[in-house]
Amino acid sequence: MKILITGGCGFIGSNLIRHLLTSSDHRIVNVDKLTYAGNPNSLADLADDVRYTFCQLDIADLQAMRGVFAQHRPDAVMHLAAESHVDRSIDGPAAFIQTNIVGTFQLLTAAAEYHQGLASERAPSFRFLHVSTDEVYGALGATGEFSESTPYDPHSPYSATKAASDHLARAWKTTYNLPVIVTNCSNNYGPYQFPEKLLPLMIIKALGEQELPVYGKGENIRDWLYVLDHARALCSVLENGRVGQTYNIGGDSQRRNIDLVRSVCGILDELHPRRSGRYEELITFVPDRPGHDFRYAIDSTKIRSELGWRPQFDLETSLRHTVRWYLTHRDWWQAILDGNYQLQRLGQV
Ligand code: NAD
Ligand code: DAU
Repeated sequence: MKILITGGCGFIGSNLIRHLLTSSDHRIVNVDKLTYAGNPNSLADLADDVRYTFCQLDIADLQAMRGVFAQHRPDAVMHLAAESHVDRSIDGPAAFIQTNIVGTFQLLTAAAEYHQGLASERAPSFRFLHVSTDEVYGALGATGEFSESTPYDPHSPYSATKAASDHLARAWKTTYNLPVIVTNCSNNYGPYQFPEKLLPLMIIKALGEQELPVYGKGENIRDWLYVLDHARALCSVLENGRVGQTYNIGGDSQRRNIDLVRSVCGILDELHPRRSGRYEELITFVPDRPGHDFRYAIDSTKIRSELGWRPQFDLETSLRHTVRWYLTHRDWWQAILDGNYQLQRLGQV
C-alpha cells in the first residue's frame, strides 16, 4: 500500500512513519510544509529509504495537493498536518484557521476529486483517516470520560479549529462519499516532541537549571498515551476501522500536571542528578492558561472491543524511556533551541 501522510515531520507523524516503515512494507509519501514544528532531523535516519518520499508542500495549496495525488496515486491518506499547540492558538489563532480549517478543506477537496477518479477496483479500498484530538469534546469535571457520542464543545482556538476540521471530514463522507474515518486521541508523549509541549519543555528546562513553569496549581488532568501506541492505533483503524466511524484513542493514564512534572523530576534525579538539590525545587507556579480545560479522559472501549487495540506501553516505564531519550538526544533538541534545525536540511549550516 502507498500511504500519503500529512504532517509527517511533526512529533506524531515522524513516529508514525518510522513505525510504518519498520513494521510493514508500505510506501510513504510525506507532505509537510515544515512550519516551526516540522523537523526534518526527526526522520534523518530514513532519508535513504527507497519506500519514503518527502514533499515540502502546504496542504492549503489545492493545486499542489492535486499534483501530489496525481503523481503518487496513494491508496490511503493519514491526515496529521495541523497547528497543534494550544498556547500558540491563544496568542495567534490565524495560522490555526488557515491550516486546520482551510488546509483540511483543500486536502479533502483534492482527495475527493482523486477518489472519484479512481478505477472501480481501487476506489472501494481507499481510506481518508482524519487524525484529531480529544480537546474537541471540551473539559470534564471530576468524573466521566469522553466517548464517541460526547457532544462537541471546544474551548480554545486550537480545539475549535480541530472541531471544524472533524466536521468537514465527516461532511465529505456524507456529501461526496469520501471514505473518511476520524480518530480523537488524548495527550501523546515520547521522542521527537517539540519542546513547547509540557513534557519535553520540563525535561529541557530542568537540564538547563531553569524554572519549571506549572500553570495554575498544576491540578489539571490529562490522559497520557505513549506516541507509539497512538501510531499502532492509527494503523489498526486504517486497516480495519469502519468507514464513516469515529474511534476515540486514550491511554487510561490520567495524571495531574503537577504529579507528572514531579515524576519527571524524580526520574532526572536518578538519571542525571543536579550538583546540589533536587529538580523539584525548580518547579514554579505561573498564571494559568486562559480557558484552561480542567480534565480530559478517554473512553476507548470502541477501539478496544472492535479492533482489539489497547495500549502496550505503561506510563511509568515509557516516561522513564522518554526522559532517557531526551538525555541521549541532546543534539536533536539543542538544534531547536539554537534555531538551526531546519537550516541543516537546506545545507545552510
Ligand atoms: P506537530 O505540531 O508536532 O506537527 C505538525 C506537523 O504538521 C509539522 O511537521 C508541521 O510542519 C506540519 N504542518 C503544519 N501546517 C502544515 C500545512 N499547512 N501543510 C503541511 N504541513 C503542515 O503536531 P503533533 O503533535 O504531531 O500532532 C499531529 C496531529 O495529531 C495533529 O493533527 C494534532 O491535532 C493531532 N493530535 C495530537 C495530539 C498530541 O498530543 N500531540 C493528540 C491528539 C491528536
Ligand atoms: O489532548 C490532546 C492534545 O494534547 C493535543 O490535541 C494537542 O495538540 C497537544 O498539544 C496537547 O494539548 P495540551 O494543551 O493538553 O498539551 P500541553 O503540552 O500544551 O499542556 C499539557 C498540560 O500541561 C496542560 O494542562 C497545560 C499544562 N502546561 C503546559 C505547558 C506548556 C503547564 O502547566 N506548563 C507549561 O509550560
